[in-house]
Amino acid sequence: MVSILESFKKVFSTGHKGVILGIDIGSSSIKVVAIEKVEEKAVLRNYGEIALGPRAGKSSGQATNLPPEKIAEALRDLLKEMGIVAHHTLMAIPFSASLLTVAELPDVEKKELESMIPIEARRYIPVPITEVSLDWWVLPKRKAEVKAGAVVAAPVSSAKQIGKTEVIIAAIHNEIIKKYESIKRDAQIPGEASHFEIEIFSTLRAVVGRDLLPTLVIDIGAGSTKLALVDEGVVRGSHVISSGGQDITLALSRSRQLSLDQAEEIKCRVGMIGDEEGRDVLVVSELIIANIMNEAARFTENYERKYNTKISKVILVGGGARLKGIEKIVAQNFPNASFFVGDPFARVDTPAFLSSTLKELSPNFAVAIGIALKGLEE
Ligand SMILES: Nc1ncnc2c1ncn2[C@@H]1O[C@H](COP(=O)(O)OP(=O)(O)OP(=O)(O)O)[C@@H](O)[C@H]1O
Ligand SMILES: [Mg+2]
Repeated sequence: MVSILESFKKVFSTGHKGVILGIDIGSSSIKVVAIEKVEEKAVLRNYGEIALGPRAGKSSGQATNLPPEKIAEALRDLLKEMGIVAHHTLMAIPFSASLLTVAELPDVEKKELESMIPIEARRYIPVPITEVSLDWWVLPKRKAEVKAGAVVAAPVSSAKQIGKTEVIIAAIHNEIIKKYESIKRDAQIPGEASHFEIEIFSTLRAVVGRDLLPTLVIDIGAGSTKLALVDEGVVRGSHVISSGGQDITLALSRSRQLSLDQAEEIKCRVGMIGDEEGRDVLVVSELIIANIMNEAARFTENYERKYNTKISKVILVGGGARLKGIEKIVAQNFPNASFFVGDPFARVDTPAFLSSTLKELSPNFAVAIGIALKGLEE
């Protein structure tokens, strides 16, 4: 369990009025942050992470599929250790438990659009519409034609766009909402209301900001990798790849005949650089990361072709983004884009003496920071 050390307790004194708790229940671990607004700035009050693997008879870093009561138990243990008293709690919903699609609808009045959405949604949602919570936003019309690195003002360029309104439709199954409500209740979560958001929106709030250039955000989790394409400040596409950091550990353990714990330790400590161990990690990671990046590049190319644009930036988050040496493989697949690992903790004020620890952990906390920041916005 990674959590704040005893000695930091004073720095992160809890019980402040207006402390917001952001919770990300990932497949391999639960991440929690507590933040508060002080003089218009978001200040980090506490953070913590608890691995779920050991509670599911697996190793740390492996994806799990625990029942809600076991997740609630882990969350309760983590919050107890952190000693958190929050006034408002927000939870992220896994991308895999949601449905997100961009629909092209005729350019009609808002009222008419509102009546069209549930009908249109049926085409994309494989369950009865009464069984899901539906949300939607009209995407702003594309104003600029973006050429790698520079925004050039231009009239709406794509013929496809003329007379069309792009609408992003998000659906979460009511059973999933019930599951998260029950986790919150069973974990005895402090705070008043609870709010939910699909995790990629949280990630984007934590790492993209107001940048208008076409950006691809890649969240490499344990069991899956989530892609979000942001253009002119809004999400225009999303995709999930069923491969993540755990696959490297599994492959390393198989190829070197190591236990999963040993393989995980080597992967996280050495990464793909350096000596003999680094070469072992490199051999298996090259294949797995290259497959992920290949699929991400194909997804991006489809978008670029459709809208005659170029992705100029790639941001990596999630625990998998911490793999040492990963930048080389990313650069091979996105040679024309700038690349960096997201640093969500940079969005909040943190104690200086923790900066190197937080920098190291930062990519893991994108969803948790993002969902907590949503609480400050509200
Ligand atoms: N320093 C590191 N180097 C390489 N991989 C790492 C490092 N730290 C963590 N990981 C890997 O990151 C993965 C966990 O990432 P993360 O916490 O983002 O996943 P998750 O949110 O639990 O999963 P998901 O998003 O798929 O539900 C694990 O597979 C773990 O092995
Ligand atoms: Mg995750």
